[in-house]
Amino acid sequence: LRSQMLIDKSFVKAQIDPRLYGSFIEHLGRAVYGGIYEPDHPTADANGFRQDAIEAIRALQVPIIRYPGGNFVSGYNWEDGVGPKKDRKRLLELAWWTTETNEVGTNEFADWAKLVGSEVMMAVNLGTRGIDDARNLIEYCNHPSGSYYSDLRISHGYKEPHRFKTWCLGNEMDGPWQIGTKTAVEYGRLANETAKVMRWVDPTIELVACGSSSSGMSTFADWEATVLDLSYDNVDYLSLHAYYNNNNNDTSNFLATSLNLDQFISSVAAICDYVKAKKRSKKKLMLSLDEWNVWHTVGTSRAEERWQIAPPEFEDVYTHEDALAVGCFLITLLKHADRVKMACMAQLINVIAPITTETGGPLWLQTTYYPFLHASIYGRGTVLHTVNSSPKYDSKDYTDVPYLESICVYDEEQGHITVFAVNRHLSEAMELDLDFRSFGEVSLIEHIVLEHEDLKAVNTKANPQHVRPHHGGLSVLDNGHVKSSLTKASWNVIRLQ
Ligand code: AHR
Repeated sequence: LRSQMLIDKSFVKAQIDPRLYGSFIEHLGRAVYGGIYEPDHPTADANGFRQDAIEAIRALQVPIIRYPGGNFVSGYNWEDGVGPKKDRKRLLELAWWTTETNEVGTNEFADWAKLVGSEVMMAVNLGTRGIDDARNLIEYCNHPSGSYYSDLRISHGYKEPHRFKTWCLGNEMDGPWQIGTKTAVEYGRLANETAKVMRWVDPTIELVACGSSSSGMSTFADWEATVLDLSYDNVDYLSLHAYYNNNNNDTSNFLATSLNLDQFISSVAAICDYVKAKKRSKKKLMLSLDEWNVWHTVGTSRAEERWQIAPPEFEDVYTHEDALAVGCFLITLLKHADRVKMACMAQLINVIAPITTETGGPLWLQTTYYPFLHASIYGRGTVLHTVNSSPKYDSKDYTDVPYLESICVYDEEQGHITVFAVNRHLSEAMELDLDFRSFGEVSLIEHIVLEHEDLKAVNTKANPQHVRPHHGGLSVLDNGHVKSSLTKASWNVIRLQ
């Protein structure tokens, strides 16, 4: 199996927005309670935050984290989560049929986000609420002082405004499962008016309108066109959500689902440009893939017993092949870095997440932690257009799937070049020729590999390091070329300077 990449440093495709490596924490399952917040845990700090989780998340260098939902936000009254904890209400939470204790709310989350070095991507409730609460919330969060809500924040111990910059206008408002689901016209009008008014409170913010919940929705494409027709001038991003799984146990097909993601992104960009043309607008709308991941337990309904507090939900255990799929998704995001400016791996801890904790017990890293870690750390700078050649295969749903999925990122400031590459072949190694023609002399820093004999291998509490990367990848320099051997079904990070 032979493949090639021609890499030229002057062929710059896009500057990578660091927010491509964002993530998501929702009041769902054990993400907040038992995940980031567990006051009785041996590692908890004075505010109840698990420090083992802080450490694992900080290491990922996640620039932005979406909060508080997700479906949760569509029934959330933010006022219930601020002020003295002793006064906070326990409420029935209708998105997931649990009891919400409100011990963690906007201010606690802002404190926690600082500890992990992330910005907050806030979402407003456009399910049960609307313009009025959105303007109050932004006044509470971002206005310095001298008004009712900003002074309320100060009275809660937060003298400095949070200055949250990025705001989602609701969540998946096209979905019938959503509290307060809407038609495209209803939502488009509401998103537009809410955006307008929020910007009057704080003109520095950026706003994300809801696209479809997935490309599989029957209203997909019409939804985007209608919503943007009604809100184009007042929003900055359109959201996309995409989850994949291998529930049919067809790994070759599963690893090709990044082609679906690629097509989805291209289609949404085209719809944005259609509306731009229609409106004769100068503004180019950017995309926010603010939920993406492998999700095996998707569609399983809420916890059987209603109104539990933080019951375990969607605790997917990720396999080696899931890590390869995540690697392919990350490469796909990078290929679209000219258009996708924000993306959130959904989610970050315990709920469809790369990090798992046991309540009262240890934390361990899932297989999918590693490609995300590598992309986040080394995938900064610019994406280069490369000319790739690779043998291809057909799978159940996709044709011409290249065995090589790859991208090159150049960090000019550091002088670092990184090639991310997945060998999709399940039984053969691939010889990859990297031609660095324009870079002059390059030297190899390392070749990191995530590989495993067993595609279904997972990390567990008992064996937390069963699947983890090593630094012994086979790459050699050869006259301006790097010759790499990519083992079967592997994720590779080849770093040069
Ligand atoms: O990430 C889990 C859920 O998936 C979110 O709450 C919702 O937006 C999506 O359907």
